[in-house]
Amino acid sequence: MRFGSFDDEQREYVINRPDTPLPWINYLGTEAYFGIISNTAGGYSFYKDARLRRLTRYRYNNAPLDAGGRYIYLRDNNPAKPFYWSPTWQPTRTALDKYECRHGMGYTKIKSELAGIVSESTYFVPLGENLEIWSLTLTNNRAESADLSVFSAIEFCLWDAVDDSNNFQRNYSIGEMEILDGVIYHKSEYRERRNHFAYFACSEPLTGFDTQREDFLGAYRGWDTPLAVEKGASAQSVAAGWQPIGSHHVRVELQPGASRQIIFLLGYQENPVSDKFDPPDSQTINKKSVKPIIERYLQPAEAAAAFQALRVYWTGLLDKLRVNTPDADTNRMVNIWNAYQMMITFNFSRSASYFESGIGRGMGFRDSNQDLLGFTHLIPERARQRILDLAATQLPSGGAYHQYQPMTKLGNNDIGGNFNDDPLWLVLSVSTYLKETGDWSILNEQVPFDNQPGSEQPLYNHLQRSIGYTTDRLGPHNLPLIGRADWNDCLNLNCFSDTPGQSFQTTTSKDGTVAESVFIAGLFVLAAAEMIGIANQLGNRAEAAAYETEKAKIEGAINTAGWDGEWFRRAYDNFSQPLGSIECTEGQIYIEPQGMCVMAGLGVENGNAQKALDSVAKRLASEHGIVLLQPAYKKYYLHIGEISSYPPGYKENGSVFCHTNPWVMIAETKIGRGDQAFDYYKRINPSARQDLSELHRCEPYVYAQMISGTEAVKPGEAKNSWLTGTAAWNYVAITQWILGIRPTFDGLQVAPVIPTTWQGFEAERTFRGVHYQIEVKRQGPGNQVSLEVDGKPVPGSVIPLPAEGVKQVQVKANIW
Ligand code: BGC
Ligand code: NOJ
Repeated sequence: MRFGSFDDEQREYVINRPDTPLPWINYLGTEAYFGIISNTAGGYSFYKDARLRRLTRYRYNNAPLDAGGRYIYLRDNNPAKPFYWSPTWQPTRTALDKYECRHGMGYTKIKSELAGIVSESTYFVPLGENLEIWSLTLTNNRAESADLSVFSAIEFCLWDAVDDSNNFQRNYSIGEMEILDGVIYHKSEYRERRNHFAYFACSEPLTGFDTQREDFLGAYRGWDTPLAVEKGASAQSVAAGWQPIGSHHVRVELQPGASRQIIFLLGYQENPVSDKFDPPDSQTINKKSVKPIIERYLQPAEAAAAFQALRVYWTGLLDKLRVNTPDADTNRMVNIWNAYQMMITFNFSRSASYFESGIGRGMGFRDSNQDLLGFTHLIPERARQRILDLAATQLPSGGAYHQYQPMTKLGNNDIGGNFNDDPLWLVLSVSTYLKETGDWSILNEQVPFDNQPGSEQPLYNHLQRSIGYTTDRLGPHNLPLIGRADWNDCLNLNCFSDTPGQSFQTTTSKDGTVAESVFIAGLFVLAAAEMIGIANQLGNRAEAAAYETEKAKIEGAINTAGWDGEWFRRAYDNFSQPLGSIECTEGQIYIEPQGMCVMAGLGVENGNAQKALDSVAKRLASEHGIVLLQPAYKKYYLHIGEISSYPPGYKENGSVFCHTNPWVMIAETKIGRGDQAFDYYKRINPSARQDLSELHRCEPYVYAQMISGTEAVKPGEAKNSWLTGTAAWNYVAITQWILGIRPTFDGLQVAPVIPTTWQGFEAERTFRGVHYQIEVKRQGPGNQVSLEVDGKPVPGSVIPLPAEGVKQVQVKANIW
């Protein structure tokens, strides 16, 4: 069953009923001002940091679901018994005659009709501005005129979302507002150490307003039955303490067939500390800088132009890679939604979604590095800055803080380091950047360790230390020590936690000198190969040779201690017993080492890769994707930690943990099995699962972190949508390995491993300022490539970089 459909032309997902299985959300904002918005206008807004600079409140885990949002109420004043409703369905949930929500690239439109009154609202953040626009158009489809009241409503957050939700003894006394010329200003704490405020403006003259929640709602009432709306009159309340809100009341008289546009602005503004008040000796906000902004965007023409600019901006980004394959789900994910989701994961890491509360984690080191593997071609300059920020949190040992705070950019001491895979991901993100841009200057950037002034070293030195961090920490089988965990945060082999509430990520009971990770070994081989490539490009032959030696040593350890006979083992625990082995009763085979080791090239020559991938197909693959491990752990094991804390089939304990599936897809391409790779790709492609929406529950336009696995109570149900490394990795798998268009140090490579039934495909790719038009044609059943570049045959599969000044290149790739 579906709850909507894709409009690929408009790059929108169109939801046609409001009661989706879960709120289906979208993101507003591009660089600093952000919002989350659901298909019924739920959600919240913040400036830069969802915890520290939260503008509006949202209630997670609440009933009814999705409480807190950008609410509009319409009240029909005509009838003897006036009535009101929410044109976005929430919060009144009045049955609407028509409803449609369109989530697009950085905007959401919700259109509905009730009793002949059509409402269309568009929500977006203009590029470069710290505000969001709600543009509301009302149309009267009745034969007689309509007398309507429009009420807006938002609830302000007192900035720090954690403090806001627990420090009531103080917070109920600090709320302060100003209302001037129809603009509602929220200025709690502005009198003391803050130099920022929020504002909520409306383009129409006001009939009334409210800024005190209980005056608007009425005591003991909820957002579904506000007293002011019921009565058709605001209370003109000015909040002093308690719960500051913003609500405008506008009266609209509409002739039959007539329309009226009303614009609301919700924004954030900072003033210089020395110029906060006007007059200077008062406590009144200085509005000089904000007034022109408000005036500008309350004009319909300016709002329309800003919306148009946002559309153009996204066209430019998405045009960087466009494909036309025989498969519609592939085309729409690659050309639209997967690229869009990568922008969102780049901006938010794992901080703010309907599953990440925005008050928890900062930016993950491994997460952000992996996000860059797919994101970099979209905006290379922002990728460059992110790499330098991440590297600056690296520790002198080469290890890394597991997370850092986006506002301060400092490593997070609460969680610390010792996740032993972390530093290796930096090598992969940097090599992705180098291949994409050819900007070798980044390696010379002076970057501190742990952000300590005076500790600066060239970025290249950070990469060297990343590699050294692994080789300095080998265990009894010459495999890398795992530390607190590797990519799988829940495989906690040194933790041994027996106390409720302890963090599995930070509790460490063992000295960590025994437990080893085959996954990190595979990741090391992959990263070492990239380092060898970089060192060779720099002419550091001796260094490259040294990496070859280290790489061969780890490969040897994987081929012996890491090989189980039919697949790669996962790890060795604190007692030096294998995990992911036929010798185990549960957790006999894990997906991560199969994907990672084969991606790194292990077993490709001697047939072990094929054996491992056949084992994946036989033991892990399901109709909903490839599960993480099998059999799932049925009880809690002290010596393996959080992974066994989850019921079977959920999260790391045997769900389809989507992040890992593309590793297997890429591995399949390494042994030339395009049919199998693409089959796996389709199983978790959200668009291809659209018909399963009732089961899948999450949005059909973006990847979710997990889909419950074969051993779950209910297999096939997705959770934790949007913020997951799945976005970048699936994009890499389909575009770079299945379609085979990938940047290399020496030029763009075209080496597809596509399904045998495909006759070919077309692609357009902007790479280092050159536009490549690529046509792939199947001439035989295999994966051999012969290239013709601008009409001339070229040996191999890499298109040599064109001469200076060439902006267009035509590529024909025949595959045999
Ligand atoms: C989750 C992991 C996550 C970790 C750290 C665990 O509870 O299952 O997916 O990486 O917490 O936040
Ligand atoms: C989510 C975390 O953000 C990521 O860092 C980790 O690799 C996966 N969970 C698997 O545990």
